Amino acid sequence: MLHKPDYFSLEDIDAIAEIIRRRARGFRPRLGLILGSGLGTLAEEAEAAAVIPTREIPDWPVSTVPGHAGRLVLGTLASQPVMILQGRVHYYEGYTMAQVGLPVRVMQRLGVETLIVTNAAGAVNPEFAPGDLMLITDHLNLIGMAGLNPLRGPNLDALGPRFPDMSQAYDRKLQALAKQVARQAGILLREGVYASLAGPSFETPADLRFLRGAGVDAVGMSTVPEVIVARHGGTRVLGISGISNKANLDGSTITTHEEVLEAGRIIVPKLLTLLRGVLQAL
Ligand code: HPA
Repeated sequence: MLHKPDYFSLEDIDAIAEIIRRRARGFRPRLGLILGSGLGTLAEEAEAAAVIPTREIPDWPVSTVPGHAGRLVLGTLASQPVMILQGRVHYYEGYTMAQVGLPVRVMQRLGVETLIVTNAAGAVNPEFAPGDLMLITDHLNLIGMAGLNPLRGPNLDALGPRFPDMSQAYDRKLQALAKQVARQAGILLREGVYASLAGPSFETPADLRFLRGAGVDAVGMSTVPEVIVARHGGTRVLGISGISNKANLDGSTITTHEEVLEAGRIIVPKLLTLLRGVLQAL
């Protein structure tokens, strides 16, 4: 049976970071980028110094979902040294929360100071439409509230505190910058609260009405664990959701993964313009 660690020590994380550092011949990323479902083609825009299939990295959690390539791309995007995770892993794939958070830990040890997280999400806000971009202003950590937090286990004191603050999980300056870039590029950038659920089943209409009542604008199955690990280690975060489908508050339509991937094709060019603008201004 595969080993599924509940926690990683600093030594475990550093051993993985060292393997990547060697494969990338010492390339030092300052910025991390995690690409969500259907958004992986963005990685092709980077001038790659190294492309590492994640299955070649010992202990790295490998993505099992269509639409997630499972590659690390280290290189330059809009003049910034970036480390791109082309295909993340999710809790529903059977990984532990520590495994879901591991890529961000490794990014931190390689020198990443700013993390840009993207995802595909269902619109809970009725004003949002498939193809929209949403700036994540805050999140609702529903899986965390149920006990699934990537920081569970011994605290890595060298990286951050036992009880990290989450009052400003999404960096305000980066939010302002993203809004400015979107305005200048004529891209409609929605704003809102992202709720993270465990998945893999999509929500029932009752789930969605509950989320709407709780102030949620978009819902997905990722991102929040990565953001918590990032903030624990002092990494600044910018979060962007690509709205892939209308969440179905009245039960009149169905949601499919194909629909999610299809929306990615509309979202990618807009997201690329937005990210290029943000990176250039950093
Ligand atoms: N629900 C949950 N996760 C999702 C959705 C959704 O409607 N769309 C894309 N990811």
